[in-house]
Amino acid sequence: MNRSRALVVGGASGIGAATTHALADAGYAVTVADVVEDGARAVADALAGTGHLARRCDVTREADVASMLTEAGSEGDLTAVVNSAGSSTLGLLTDLDEAEFRRVTDICLHGAFLVLKHAGRHVADAGAICSLTSLNARRAAAGFGPYCAAKAGLAMLTQVAALELAPRRVRVNAVSPGLVDTPLTAPAMEIPGVRDDYLDNTPLGRAGTPEEVAEAVLFTLRSAWLTGEVIDLNGGAHLLAYPDVHGHVVRAFG
Ligand SMILES: NC(=O)c1ccc[n+]([C@@H]2O[C@H](COP(=O)([O-])OP(=O)(O)OC[C@H]3O[C@@H](n4cnc5c(N)ncnc54)[C@H](O)[C@@H]3O)[C@@H](O)[C@H]2O)c1
Repeated sequence: MNRSRALVVGGASGIGAATTHALADAGYAVTVADVVEDGARAVADALAGTGHLARRCDVTREADVASMLTEAGSEGDLTAVVNSAGSSTLGLLTDLDEAEFRRVTDICLHGAFLVLKHAGRHVADAGAICSLTSLNARRAAAGFGPYCAAKAGLAMLTQVAALELAPRRVRVNAVSPGLVDTPLTAPAMEIPGVRDDYLDNTPLGRAGTPEEVAEAVLFTLRSAWLTGEVIDLNGGAHLLAYPDVHGHVVRAFG
């Protein structure tokens, strides 16, 4: 039984919540961190085993991230850090408010940098870090500019962090999912035509589940020779075209 600590940032919902359960089932004591503190607490309270903690953390605030990782690493047994915090928006670049571009990139790229920075300082030697990028890191989508740019940036940051942390044998990887039904994707799935378009462009013909993504995240944490890798997990969707989400919005709402 694994008795070390894992930290899941963005652990209150969706893929992050499923990952906390997978880690607890694997024997880790899990710190569940999220900007939604009640959500983190509810997830931590439902985990199997003991030693789980819930913490409020906004990844866009360095003081939050630094204190969370200082605490999680204080016993020297922090061997796994997962960053699942994310947010998106829909709007063409020519229409998008600068504040909205900053909001999404602050969470998905700047926040991911802060987690990598402080995880890199506090994770134990030979520990592992995994971030969630996206199919949109390699597939452009009209209307998803800040999300695509931030996730592409995070994919590269993953490789840089892998190089920089290798001297301590800390491994840094990312999992890059396609469509997974969570609160993040629910609004887009309500736009007529979008879901069918996604599934028509997914060779395996279905969305993934948070549990399937959690399984891939755990693989990256366990796989002792894997570092600097961004793993596509999308039912083969990276082999076909990306759905025209913005086109569906225009057709549905004008
Ligand atoms: N669901 C998908 O189809 C999909 C596909 C590709 C990538 N992803 C990525 O996977 C990750 C998890 O997404 P999900 O689908 O589980 O979404 P979700 O909305 O269910 O969970 C995201 C979590 O991040 C938290 N969060 C948001 N802003 C935060 C902040 N500033 N500080 C701390 N926590 C914050 C939210 O409160 C939430 O608990 C995200 O990075 C997302 O971009 C999801």
